[in-house]
Amino acid sequence: MSRPALLGGTPSKRPTRFDLKQALVVRLILVALFCVIGSALFNLHNTAQEATDQNREVAAGIEQHLVTQLMRIETALDRADRFPDWDAIARNSLRSGQCIEFLKPNNSVGNSLCSGIDQSTLRAPLWFVGAYKLLFLSHTDIVRPLASRGQAKGAIRATIAPEAVAERGWLELSRMLGVWGAMIAAQCVLVYVVVHHALKPTDDILAGINRLSNGDLTVTLPAYELNELARIAEVFNELARKLQTTTRERAELARQLVDAQERERAHIARELHDDVAQQVAALSVVARSIQKLIGPAVPQATRECNELVKMCSTALRSLRETLIHLQPPEIDELGLVASLQELIDTKNGATGNTTRLSFHHEGRFDRLPIDTAAHVYRIAQEAVNNALRHAQARTVDVRLWKTGERIELTVRDDGLGPGPTWTAVRGQNSGVGLIGMRERIFALNGDFYAGEGAPSGFEVRVSFPHTAQPASTTGGAA
Ligand SMILES: Nc1ncnc2c1ncn2[C@@H]1O[C@H](COP(=O)(O)OP(=O)(O)O)[C@@H](O)[C@H]1O
Ligand SMILES: [Mg+2]
Repeated sequence: MSRPALLGGTPSKRPTRFDLKQALVVRLILVALFCVIGSALFNLHNTAQEATDQNREVAAGIEQHLVTQLMRIETALDRADRFPDWDAIARNSLRSGQCIEFLKPNNSVGNSLCSGIDQSTLRAPLWFVGAYKLLFLSHTDIVRPLASRGQAKGAIRATIAPEAVAERGWLELSRMLGVWGAMIAAQCVLVYVVVHHALKPTDDILAGINRLSNGDLTVTLPAYELNELARIAEVFNELARKLQTTTRERAELARQLVDAQERERAHIARELHDDVAQQVAALSVVARSIQKLIGPAVPQATRECNELVKMCSTALRSLRETLIHLQPPEIDELGLVASLQELIDTKNGATGNTTRLSFHHEGRFDRLPIDTAAHVYRIAQEAVNNALRHAQARTVDVRLWKTGERIELTVRDDGLGPGPTWTAVRGQNSGVGLIGMRERIFALNGDFYAGEGAPSGFEVRVSFPHTAQPASTTGGAA
């Protein structure tokens, strides 16, 4: 069951929104990236710390060895010119890129020994080495003072080449990123699948909401396992049910209202026709009879009687026009199409050349219930009257046709259009005429649009489901 659309205007633009699953996965990726960067920094820091520890270890070992050698020299068990004699111990303990130096008491480098780096095996890019050196390798050098019997004998300095440490950091990082990358990708796929499955009911809920907003009030949602979704479905179903009841009641009320209006109009028309019109006609007859009685003897009275007869016929003419307006032509006898054609012809006659009205129709409407035909006629009549009153249009085009199970009616003009103060809010800008049209179409369970026409002017467009009347109760031809 579809409901009448809002009065006029285009729907407001919706802001761009994200798919819930995509948004969750994107957030997950961001969190994972944050974790990866954190652990990468932690790992690089650890590698630099390991290098510092190695320097400390080597420097402590060499220091111990040289202190022993100094003691041996002092007790003449060794020669002073062999100091520092560290080859045997240093060669075994130095790692790739590590250096050991003996600093004399005046801080100049005495002896030094380095373990080389195989350049061909280095894979860390230069930018990484530079950045790593800057961020992590400023405190890896270790200096240990050397003393014997309380006397300073210089110092031992252990260093390691930044390329060697950066290489270790790079290897560590590549390994870690490989594992993490694969894990994050797998996790994203898994999360997407799990979330997709868990949120499957939201697709149904969304589809239900869309159907409801398109006017399908029969939509219901099933009971879901998840507590929150089950509650949403419960409330949704309850609201849809209430809306359905209210809409049905409102449609019924609208139908009764327009029926009462029709009855009231018919009553006034009958009163005018049977009473006022008869009296005016009788008045005209009396005037003629007086005219005859007096004869040409009293020319003044004859003229007055003539005047009275003329006034009576003018009054009768305008009474007839009012009657046509109050009571549509006998739709049940003429049929909807002929009645609309008559309306257009009458208006064309009345407007002269200022506004040209046209009427086009397609399909047969002879099986339309009389009430429905009367509603369509009244809507067209009000829309045409509006176009003539408000639009200053040169042309007004009325169209009536069938599309599938629906009947459509449009009244378009090329006039001033709705104007800048017209708003799309339902009910606003609408006088009794537009409200009446909307109520009629509501009673017909159809859609209604009134507002800007294309490419300009004003347009009233209605469409409603076609429910044929059984052939025996149908009146009139199309
Ligand atoms: N064809 C039209 N062209 C321009 N404006 C229109 C047209 N039809 C209706 N309107 C605007 O909509 C308003 C409401 O129309 P309606 O409900 O019929 O009340 P009324 O005709 O009594 O003013 C009109 O006052 C007018 O501003
Ligand atoms: Mg009006």
